[in-house]
Amino acid sequence: MVVGNWKMNLQPARAASLVRTIAQEAEKPQYEQVELVVCPPALYLPLALKDWQPAGSLAVGAQNCHWEESGAYTGEWSAQMLRAIGVEYCIIGHSERRAQFGETNQVVGDKIKAAVQAGLGTILCCGETLAEREGGTHFEVVERQLLDGLSGVDKSQFAEVIVAYEPVWAIGTGKTASSAQAQEMHSAIRQVLAQKFGGPQADATTLLYGGSCKPSNAAELFAQPDVDGGLIGGASLDAEQFLQIAASFL
Ligand code: PGA
Repeated sequence: MVVGNWKMNLQPARAASLVRTIAQEAEKPQYEQVELVVCPPALYLPLALKDWQPAGSLAVGAQNCHWEESGAYTGEWSAQMLRAIGVEYCIIGHSERRAQFGETNQVVGDKIKAAVQAGLGTILCCGETLAEREGGTHFEVVERQLLDGLSGVDKSQFAEVIVAYEPVWAIGTGKTASSAQAQEMHSAIRQVLAQKFGGPQADATTLLYGGSCKPSNAAELFAQPDVDGGLIGGASLDAEQFLQIAASFL
């Protein structure tokens, strides 16, 4: 699986052409085995789903949702609303939301629960800061993010969950985790998931790596046994780079 996290980027004309190009290319046989997802800014979601790719072959995801179904939450939207318009995935707990919008593990857990209940493929983001890695607490930090983030999800709902490991120090910095660092953490994540939900469930979970993933390093990262794909920021804003990353499984 390769997911493009556009963040707050692209004016409508460029966004439209990016979706159109990726949707067209996604039909080609080399992408048959890869689930391709684009996550544009929320206000483009209906356009991305209908106008920009009328056949609707490319999966579309949101970057965030509220934890309640509806109510007095100015400026927000719910997981049910996303699902109702045809959105299939939602990123939750991205480190930028944690750092800039005060999302705690508890808030992330509430949002994950809402997204899973709404039937969205729910992408839980986790990852340590540089200080946490240098302090040697990175495994603990990620374990806490997983356990709190998944506290409202039961075994039967867990199949909806995708986990994205994104070391904060690698996001937008050009510094990728080495494939060994990614594999080490992904394997630790699978163990935490196995303890909570069972081995077969953990084995079936898609684990994405994110943080300066680009065409030049994707193949090596995706070749790791516990890396099942990528969550792509900067490189997802360019159709050619995004598609090259998606073709890196071959
Ligand atoms: P990046 O961002 O690929 O630009 O490092 C990844 C992300 O934040 O999801």
